[in-house]
Amino acid sequence: MDFSIKAFDTKNTLTAAKSGCVAVAVFENKKLSEAAKALDLNGDISAAVKSGDISGKTGSTLLLRGVAGVTAARVLLVGMGADDAVGAIGEKSFTGAVGAALKTFATLGAQDGIIAFPLENVKGRDLNWAIRAMVIAANEAEFRTDAQKSKKDPAIAGVRKLTIAVPAAGANGAHLKTVLAQSIAIANGMNLTKELGNLSPNVCTPTYLANTARKLAEDYNFDVEILDRKQLEALKMGSFLSVTRGSEEPPKFIVLKHMGGKKGDAPTVLVGKGITFDSGGISIKPGPGMDEMKYDMCGAGSVLGTFRAIGEMNIKLNVIGIVAACENMPSGRATKPGDIVTAMNGTTIEILNTDAEGRLVLADALTYAERFKPAAVVDIATLTGACIVALGHHNSGLFTRHDDQHNALAEELMDAGRQAGDTAWRLPIGELYNEQLKSNFADLANIGSPGGASCTAAAFLENFTRNYAWAHLDIAGTAWKSGAAKGATGRPVPLLTTFLLNRV
Ligand code: BES
Ligand code: MN
Ligand code: ZN
Repeated sequence: MDFSIKAFDTKNTLTAAKSGCVAVAVFENKKLSEAAKALDLNGDISAAVKSGDISGKTGSTLLLRGVAGVTAARVLLVGMGADDAVGAIGEKSFTGAVGAALKTFATLGAQDGIIAFPLENVKGRDLNWAIRAMVIAANEAEFRTDAQKSKKDPAIAGVRKLTIAVPAAGANGAHLKTVLAQSIAIANGMNLTKELGNLSPNVCTPTYLANTARKLAEDYNFDVEILDRKQLEALKMGSFLSVTRGSEEPPKFIVLKHMGGKKGDAPTVLVGKGITFDSGGISIKPGPGMDEMKYDMCGAGSVLGTFRAIGEMNIKLNVIGIVAACENMPSGRATKPGDIVTAMNGTTIEILNTDAEGRLVLADALTYAERFKPAAVVDIATLTGACIVALGHHNSGLFTRHDDQHNALAEELMDAGRQAGDTAWRLPIGELYNEQLKSNFADLANIGSPGGASCTAAAFLENFTRNYAWAHLDIAGTAWKSGAAKGATGRPVPLLTTFLLNRV
């Protein structure tokens, strides 16, 4: 989809806009939005609404042709539910109406369309949010997961050029253009994350992720470094290496650098869990649904997707991405429950369950991050099934060191999530959870005693992050959908990109 924004005012009216179709909102109480009123020169629109041909319920639509006084070939009326006394619209009504408009646009003979919705009237949201929501929804609608199908899914038809009508240009015109460009970059970043997540695990291997990082570096002028097994051994990454032992696929440790900020400014570091397939290892997982463990690289995918977004925006910030990629497989050489390994920072770890592998690869990646003297480190991982139990699929789990209410980094990430519509929710760590990780034979066990598995996993990571400000996002519930709509979601690219943008 090709997006643009345009302000319509008294000189440049919506009625005179040359377009295949203009979509405007109507409400359940037969009320017309401002844009619908503007197009209702001869009463065609109010007549259609009065006739009951459109209910105004969220997502209902009615296509009119040849509306008197309107230049556009078609006017699409889209129901936006009930607005409240002051004309405010619920977020769900808004996004539902956007979805319905896009769906109808895709069936039209028109090539270009205008969406003239009340962007400023969404409850608790601003114009920036509405623009971003529209771009992401349009992008979602045209996303195809046919990379590995011999016959490709039909591409989206109909409207391919979408103009978002915004309030009169004025001073914020340039700002809105920036918001649009950022929204498109986020959408493109999400697409990369989704593509990587959805690829089968025999294709999306650690080597594939490394090649993707190399390609990104070429496209956007990032520095890239790929460390292989020998280099990881030299670095004494015993924790990471213990996970890859059972696999035939070579591990890759990927470092991407976008130094768009001031020289010498401490970088913000993103660290992604990149298990391209998590069988559980010797502590093997049950068969049903095991295919979904191809998504265990979605943390890594979100780092690469976020890099695509910030590369496209050429963000003025120093950002480093680290991806620790390998498979977790059983074999005669695989790590066994009871094995004790030494992490890069010297901590010894008793591996009581080889399926708690994410924290093992992250431990060394988090130690490695120290060398960059980071302003902050955020790791992103499909770390625990328990996080889905705790938060469902709506919020990513957010953990930071201090369990007081005022951790600045936590607030930054929470805000970014709210702004981006890609929310997180705070969960605790601390001394009590650390106690659950005690081992009789090593410094730490890689699983906690029963209870609070997401918290003990995060507490484990915390041991490797004491030299910088750190946050952990558990995205087990948010990174992909199961069932009929099985597929990667592209989250938390909107959260991460917004977080970085806010840091500029
Ligand atoms: N990749 C999984 C976490 C996961 C499970 C994400 C299901 C999404 C859906 C992780 O490596 C894992 O296996 N975690 C274990 C930890 C346990 C052994 C302490 C889990 O959550 O069961
Ligand atoms: Mn696992
Ligand atoms: Zn895993």
